[in-house]
Amino acid sequence: MTTYDSAFGYVSAHGAPLVDLLDPQPGEKIIDLGCGTGAFSAEIAERGAEVLGLDGSAEMIAQAAARHPGLSFSVADAHDFTTSESFDAVASNAALHWMTRDPDAVIARVHEALRPGGRFVAELGGAGNCAELIVAMQTAWRVFGLPEPDLPWYFPSPAEYATRLEDGGFTLRLLEHADRPSRMVEGPDGAADWVRAYASGALAEVPPELVEPLLARVNELAAPALRRESGWVADYVRLRFAAIRKPDGSTPMPEGPL
Ligand SMILES: C[S@@+](CC[C@H](N)C(=O)[O-])C[C@H]1O[C@@H](n2cnc3c(N)ncnc32)[C@H](O)[C@@H]1O
Repeated sequence: MTTYDSAFGYVSAHGAPLVDLLDPQPGEKIIDLGCGTGAFSAEIAERGAEVLGLDGSAEMIAQAAARHPGLSFSVADAHDFTTSESFDAVASNAALHWMTRDPDAVIARVHEALRPGGRFVAELGGAGNCAELIVAMQTAWRVFGLPEPDLPWYFPSPAEYATRLEDGGFTLRLLEHADRPSRMVEGPDGAADWVRAYASGALAEVPPELVEPLLARVNELAAPALRRESGWVADYVRLRFAAIRKPDGSTPMPEGPL
């Protein structure tokens, strides 16, 4: 699904950097929500904007501050952060799908942090993200007689997230839902390493002696779909959007032909 609005000066997200959709302007105040170690914050700052990176993990924020000493970072949970000033934009890369407690609360906090007309631009895992990896995990857990793994993500459909944004006081200007098969960079052991890196919570509930055989089974199950001659590929599906905080109050529509 793709919609396009030339006001963003941006054509197709397939592979284009998210920062181009955000299009930061010199002097703009921009929050990077779920900034991790600050790589995306630094890209935004390179365009001359003033960035505040927020992340729920104190460890991530410490790493971000060490790597990018010129930028501002702070520990904050996206569900309940507040700001003392209004921002021109909130951006987020690969983080909203980890904020599972209450997606509407996150959208409400972003809305409050923005000035009217401010931009909310993000990319997250969308419906169908990692479907092969998840099925391989669920099957392996079942084979080993374990209860369903507790998966820590929220991968909304475009329709669902669009409704949340519109109900939350945003006008949606662009929304894309696209396959993005990506080389696994986590380690040589493919799906098993991916599970170790991104689903460690589910592994924590597994008896220690079962972890290695369970991961070996995940690899076996996932290999036909995800292992190529050139290496393992994760079946990522991305949702990317740009939305504008609606102006406060309603503006009369100008008259004119449709
Ligand atoms: C996959 S990382 C992405 C980091 C960074 N945006 C990037 O592009 O490299 C996801 C980040 O979201 C953060 N996160 C998860 N839940 C959060 C929450 N409720 N509030 C704030 N940050 C959160 C994690 O701590 C982690 O740093």
